[in-house]
Amino acid sequence: MLEALDIGKSFGEVSALNNVSLQLKSHKVHALLGENGAGKSTLVKCLMGYYRPDSGQILFNQKEVVIDSPQRASHLGLGMVYQHFTLIPNMTIAENIVLSRPNLPLIIDWQKEIESLQTKMTNMPFQIDLHRPVRELAVGEKQKVEITKQLLLDTKLLILDEPTSVLTPTEADEVLGKIHQLARNQQLTVLMITHKFREVMQYADQVTVLRKGRFVATATVSEVNPQILSDMMVGGESLSKPPTRTLQSARIIKLRTENLTVHNDQDFAVIKNMDLEVAQGEIVGIAGVSGNGQKQLVEALAGQRPPHMGTIFAHDKKFCADLNTITRHKFFCLPEEPLKNACVGTLSVAENLVLRKFNRPPFSRWGMLRRGVIRRNAEALIQQYRVRTSGPEQPIAALSGGNVQRVVLARELAQEVSILVVANPCFGLDFKAVADIRAQLLAARNQGAAILLISEDLDEILELSDRFYVISAGQLVYQTTPAQADMNTIGQYMAGH
Ligand SMILES: Nc1ncnc2c1ncn2[C@@H]1O[C@H](COP(=O)(O)OP(=O)(O)OP(=O)(O)O)[C@@H](O)[C@H]1O
Ligand SMILES: [Mg+2]
Repeated sequence: MLEALDIGKSFGEVSALNNVSLQLKSHKVHALLGENGAGKSTLVKCLMGYYRPDSGQILFNQKEVVIDSPQRASHLGLGMVYQHFTLIPNMTIAENIVLSRPNLPLIIDWQKEIESLQTKMTNMPFQIDLHRPVRELAVGEKQKVEITKQLLLDTKLLILDEPTSVLTPTEADEVLGKIHQLARNQQLTVLMITHKFREVMQYADQVTVLRKGRFVATATVSEVNPQILSDMMVGGESLSKPPTRTLQSARIIKLRTENLTVHNDQDFAVIKNMDLEVAQGEIVGIAGVSGNGQKQLVEALAGQRPPHMGTIFAHDKKFCADLNTITRHKFFCLPEEPLKNACVGTLSVAENLVLRKFNRPPFSRWGMLRRGVIRRNAEALIQQYRVRTSGPEQPIAALSGGNVQRVVLARELAQEVSILVVANPCFGLDFKAVADIRAQLLAARNQGAAILLISEDLDEILELSDRFYVISAGQLVYQTTPAQADMNTIGQYMAGH
């Protein structure tokens, strides 16, 4: 159906793609694998007309085509769900979907459009309330909307950039199962970028591996296994080993909420009377399906959303998240969608790495920024956290998704941490980076940090937490430890039963 031949693409000094070729067969699911920064997103953006390749050819049904804009791609029946969300927050889901239709009439008959969406909705993998504004949705929900949008727009070749990173395993199976089925029924061809071998093995027919901007191999999935795939991806480099857990001598509560109630933008209580404690040297997990208040809880703890009622205590003092208090308490936070919530996209990697401390020595003196110190700080962290970038001066928005995540983690974990709030810290990271980050979090715990880990990835919660809660409809409905966890019970609480 589609063939890319010898595609090359550079951004200034960075060569993102080097003679990469890819062949997509009709009605198959094709997986694209590679480390963070390998060039996966760049390749699919070239196919979508979002970037113009510097060299190479694209053939569509064996004829050469020039895809010079996303409109052109969409006329060919190509549609994509991007790694960063593209929905307009202040519009409802229905408005977002209607407005992304190509050939939209000059005057929109909204009632007719919405009725037609509603009818088509019955065949969709997810049932979504079309009238909700997008800004209220958590990442997992947005992902479902993005996928549903493409299916509703009659896309024939669907490109998915890490579609399941924020879905629970059950949700992921539901989406991929449905997509796989559409391919089997000859209704859809799929190119899917993923970091999860399980998804490749279970749902893909073919797989292509990229490494550092170069083509490594294309294989038939039934002829490979995860070990072969990971060797192709990293060429035999070894993984970080997690440190063993050390025991804490005394239980000292570092982070506590009392009767915390947080409202969403519509003034609805989405966190309800929450009492929570995290002690020194403890990782407390909060598991749950996205959209159960996790987003607003993190915002409240990060000082981005004032609580409606109740109090947050850090080291037994009432906490309010201004820069000085944060610094004094060594209270750090990694929110979800870090590029949006924790970075300034147009600033450089080096500047983003000192966002919380540029005004203090050694980064500034007598009110002046010390560029050299800021740059050297960045160079050290880039190396330590293996960030793939053309250099400290590169704007952070130009980094690959996984590399943005690494920069933010490097910033938050680079100093002594006393309290750490992290939301989905491994979202979009390749398996090697996941091992790195998890090892870092455990090391911070062993050094006495109190860590609140909010994650939609149950495996991550089970691996990292000392004890964990399940959140449902804004309340902590269940508490257990990984050793005692019973998956059935947890599943039921997660589903709100
Ligand atoms: N607009 C851009 N400007 C400059 N450099 C870029 C731009 N887009 C990508 N790059 C660089 O190209 C390389 C490949 O990035 P790409 O986003 O394709 O990686 P990826 O395989 O999708 O990684 P990830 O798994 O982290 O999403 C990276 O080194 C990145 O910094
Ligand atoms: Mg990417």
